[in-house]
Amino acid sequence: MKRTRIKAALASDTPVDPIRIQGWVRTRRDAKGFSFLEVNDGSCLKNIQVLIDHADPAAAHLKEIQTGASLEVTGALVPSPGKGQKWEIQARTLTLFGPADPESYPLQKKRHSDEFLRTIAHLRPRTNKYGAMFRIRSECAFFVHRFFRQRGFFYLNSPIITGSDCEGAGELFRVTTLPVFPPRTEPEADVFKDDFFGKEAGLTVSGQLEAELFACALGNVYTFGPTFRAENSNTPRHVAEFWMIEPEMAFADLKDTMDLAEDLVKEMTRYMLEQCPEDLELFARFVDKTLMKTLETVSGTTYERLPYAEAIDILQKSGKAFEFPVAFGSDLKTEHERYLCEIHFKKPVIVYDYPKTIKAFYMRLNDDDTTVAAMDLLVPRVGELVGGSQREERYDVLKRRILENGMDPDDYWWYLDIRRFGTVFHAGFGLGFERYLMMLTGVTNIRDVIPFPRTPKHLEF
Ligand code: 4AD
Ligand code: MG
Repeated sequence: MKRTRIKAALASDTPVDPIRIQGWVRTRRDAKGFSFLEVNDGSCLKNIQVLIDHADPAAAHLKEIQTGASLEVTGALVPSPGKGQKWEIQARTLTLFGPADPESYPLQKKRHSDEFLRTIAHLRPRTNKYGAMFRIRSECAFFVHRFFRQRGFFYLNSPIITGSDCEGAGELFRVTTLPVFPPRTEPEADVFKDDFFGKEAGLTVSGQLEAELFACALGNVYTFGPTFRAENSNTPRHVAEFWMIEPEMAFADLKDTMDLAEDLVKEMTRYMLEQCPEDLELFARFVDKTLMKTLETVSGTTYERLPYAEAIDILQKSGKAFEFPVAFGSDLKTEHERYLCEIHFKKPVIVYDYPKTIKAFYMRLNDDDTTVAAMDLLVPRVGELVGGSQREERYDVLKRRILENGMDPDDYWWYLDIRRFGTVFHAGFGLGFERYLMMLTGVTNIRDVIPFPRTPKHLEF
């Protein structure tokens, strides 16, 4: 007999006999002559109720069947007299795979704090909230590929081990096979001569530079992969390993990236509301009561677009006492970003034309020689969700910017090369997948939207 997933069983139109399900016990309730098990197999939020008659052989192992135990049930799917459920299973056989000791199994039936559940990240997907979270995450990843495929983008696997620091922020994790690291006072070549690659290597902070090379050959490409930053900031918005979606388009300018980012966020949100209503509803009920309203705004309104200078002006005139002062030339902090979209505009906001001094070397210099063609998409709750730009396609300007940023043009010869042969205006952005999931679910700590978060001094699992 084929196994039925509980989601499919619950969606059945007719009684099914026989039926076979497998899963983990969420709760057990005993009554006179009967026991009721709530069983979940991860396929959906809902449990299925299993009814066991104590007079049946199925009741033989009942004593060991406690919360957390894994089992298989065969029996009949019949209409349930209980309220709130259409179907239940009357068990004929019950096979226990693995018991769970009630003294030590940490997920007993009560509400656990997110902090506690982080310490048992190997078990937290068995809770309602985290089961829902990671089903949502999976569905969302699927949508990303669908979105770009429908628009004719090619999926690019950019390398994870790299020698270049795309953002130039010095946040590269080092990759080495050297047992002892030689002092950095020696010439570079000597330091790394016995290392695996014979040169300094690290984990990528962004697939952008490689995506640019491919966009300038295939037209439109995107990457969607893990990204690493040794940023020593313990905020609820940063992890050392996160997933980024990075589209790159040839023959495209800053406005094209704004349009694409807005479309992506809107369509993804609409799709998720359609595909995962039950799982999202859980977050709207227990995590953020305003969630559905936020998601309506994110999926249904036209985003505000304004230059950085205007954003600074609004913030300065707001009369609000920010923790970090605002002035032209300073980077926007989360509190400023959230003020703009939550209080001032009450919707997602795209800020563009940032001062070159606070942005990366590859962004296209504007004619004012002060700002670059950069854009950030800011969303309620999260602040910066997307960072993007039109890229500097002029060889001489790019080389100058590399030097101004204290980088070595020789390290980027290949990046400069595509500006020598058939250079083309092009643009793209990066969307932090975890930041998006925070916005989508109302969860305020990034550690709770990624299966196994990596943060300073935390590397469990
Ligand atoms: O703004 P960032 O640094 O932009 C880039 O990396 C560009 N190379 C992207 C591109 O143009 N192709 O990062 C992009 C996004 C941020 O807006 C944020 O959502 C997310 O990545 N992000 C992080 N998410 C979680 N933890 C971190 N430490 C993050 N750093 C950035
Ligand atoms: Mg950024």
